[in-house]
Amino acid sequence: FPLQGFNTFGLPSVAQEFVRCNSIEDVQDVIKQLHPDPLFILGGGSNILLTRDIEGLVLKMDISGKEVLHESDEDVIVRAGAGENWHEFVMYAIDNNLGGIENLSLIPGTVGAAPMQNIGAYGVEIEQVFDHLRAVDLTTGEIRTFFKEECDFGYRESIFKKEAKGKYIICDVAFRLRKFPHTLNISYGAIGDTLHQKGITNPTIRDVSNAVIEIRKSKLPDPAEIGNSGSFFKNPTISAEMFNRLKEEFNELPGYKTDDHQVKVPAAWLIEKCGWKGLVRDGIGVHKNQALVLVNYGSGKGADIEKLAFEIQASVRERFGIELQPEVNII
Ligand code: EPU
Repeated sequence: FPLQGFNTFGLPSVAQEFVRCNSIEDVQDVIKQLHPDPLFILGGGSNILLTRDIEGLVLKMDISGKEVLHESDEDVIVRAGAGENWHEFVMYAIDNNLGGIENLSLIPGTVGAAPMQNIGAYGVEIEQVFDHLRAVDLTTGEIRTFFKEECDFGYRESIFKKEAKGKYIICDVAFRLRKFPHTLNISYGAIGDTLHQKGITNPTIRDVSNAVIEIRKSKLPDPAEIGNSGSFFKNPTISAEMFNRLKEEFNELPGYKTDDHQVKVPAAWLIEKCGWKGLVRDGIGVHKNQALVLVNYGSGKGADIEKLAFEIQASVRERFGIELQPEVNII
């Protein structure tokens, strides 16, 4: 079964077997009756680099639907199927004047993949609105609920990338959204600048969403036009001491303190300084507006993108002594 249309890099890869699941019961049936091994779970395919064909069964998560579970004076807990498109879910929240995820507009992928890597952008991460999720245990086929404390969220991290990796299939996710969204997060410079340019002084969640959409469209390539998986690497955190040492040589090096001893530096800056921005070769490349985004111009191969990523890592290591970690899952 061809997977080219099921990964946002648009890479050719073939699944030995492929099944779509539209309900939690479908997922349980697949586990309990087929005992698939190996099993590969596919959401929106927006955070994977396929370098080869997939052995065994690919389970395409297609559970849809949105449901209000609980409503208080201030909050609404909304559950969404793991197969729902993330951006459409954000638009649903905005249409219903529910606040909390407007900064996460236009992120590619599905609801089910969002907690996996604790998606984040423009000062907001999913953990801030996450309530719980339901997942099917791959060994027993039983449903398990994970509450926020159990998910061990971090920067682009969760238990589902660590101890629980490959052990559960996330089937739906419940978010606690705010009914009267007065507190907006517009601390991220580019959002404030965009609102200011438009003369918006008292923004609504829709204004914030529109600003985010505008910023993303101006910098990030649309996967429907140029294959990509967003940021390819995580932004590395280095010691304050190392940061100060690097600053002596590279005085324009940007950095954001994460605590008194640690500084996060933009991987895009390091990659750009090593001269990779805008590179095109073998049908692949480094995006011209955002050096952190690797792209497939159409005819590229996953293995070539992986090789390019290794070369980028090596040059950043050599020049700055910093180890870049991929954010995308390399298969
Ligand atoms: N920069 C460069 N060259 C570039 C692009 C950026 O030097 O080509 C430097 C600039 O100094 C800029 C800084 O990097 O100020 C930060 O750039 P940007 O605001 O574009 O954000 P980012 O750090 O590159 C992160 C997330 C994005 C998220 C944005 C906005 C990671 C790995 N990436 O990117 O998330 O949308 O912030 O919050 O944390 C994703 O995960 O796929 C993703 C797109």
